[in-house]
Amino acid sequence: MKIAVIGADGQLGTDVVKAFTANGDEAVSLTHSDIEISDKDSVSERMTALRPNFIVNTAAMHHVDKCEQDPTKAFAVNGLGAKNLALVAREIGAKLMHVSTDYVFDGEKKSPYEESDPPRPLNAYGNSKLSGEYFVRSTAPQHFVLRTSAIYGKRPCRAKGGLNFIELMLKLARERGEVKVVDDEFVSPTPTPEIARQMVALSRSDAYGLYHATAEGSCSWYAFAKEIFALTNTKVNLLIAGPNEFPIKVPRPKYSVLENAALKKQGLNVFQPWQQGLRAYFSTSS
Ligand SMILES: NC(=O)c1ccc[n+]([C@@H]2O[C@H](COP(=O)([O-])OP(=O)(O)OC[C@H]3O[C@@H](n4cnc5c(N)ncnc54)[C@H](OP(=O)(O)O)[C@@H]3O)[C@@H](O)[C@H]2O)c1
Repeated sequence: MKIAVIGADGQLGTDVVKAFTANGDEAVSLTHSDIEISDKDSVSERMTALRPNFIVNTAAMHHVDKCEQDPTKAFAVNGLGAKNLALVAREIGAKLMHVSTDYVFDGEKKSPYEESDPPRPLNAYGNSKLSGEYFVRSTAPQHFVLRTSAIYGKRPCRAKGGLNFIELMLKLARERGEVKVVDDEFVSPTPTPEIARQMVALSRSDAYGLYHATAEGSCSWYAFAKEIFALTNTKVNLLIAGPNEFPIKVPRPKYSVLENAALKKQGLNVFQPWQQGLRAYFSTSS
């Protein structure tokens, strides 16, 4: 298959290109300088020239504070950008795989969210991503929408300034010897190579729809940091951050754990427990 990967130099996009290429597909890497998803003409020109069988969209504006400051831009990229891709996918008969987020939920449920749970985003980022999901689901007949959570990969996230959570923890431990982390926000830390493998597995099916796609199990950011330090034998004084130690400007869900219910129903879930994914991160070089 010819796969157009949008956001190809991003944290997730890099591993998506690798996974489809390893699978024997022709993965065409598209970076921001090749395509502007919020611009309908740019999307249409690029995709009609390329004529992929399959489009994977990992591109987004996903810095939560910046989305809150500029919701118009957030909706242009995360909402209308997804719509532009859905329209062109329908027109050229391509399948569309679109990446969304756990931040479509408010975190009040306190048990893992399934695909059937009603979304209720708390911020502009979550709202704009939810609008993108709706555009894709209502416009592109052959779509896969994958909601994921707390992702990390070897290639740093471009939007968040160079270090993933793991590397940030290790850097702080080296520099300060003491690290404080919140223990009241729960996620499923998900490695990008696993998301990419999941995409390849789904791309071979015609089980179109909405999927939760995260590592198995969950933890607080504090527990994640504890496991990082244990696996790397890092000597550090790890402390639980006090309630007002890291004041946040924009509301976020305190509990955004997702259950991969739809993937399991299809017999297609490839995700491992988050601890295993973390071990794999430390045992691979790129
Ligand atoms: N990070 C997380 O913890 C997390 C959690 C849940 C879901 N997600 C979702 O996962 C996806 C991938 O995240 P990531 O960490 O891989 O992000 P990333 O490293 O920031 O990569 C995003 C890529 O998209 C490109 N891009 C941004 N705006 C674009 C636009 N308007 N048109 C075309 N390309 C554009 C970026 O290029 P430039 O950098 O050159 O602009 C970059 O190549 C996103 O959809 C995000 O919402 C992330």
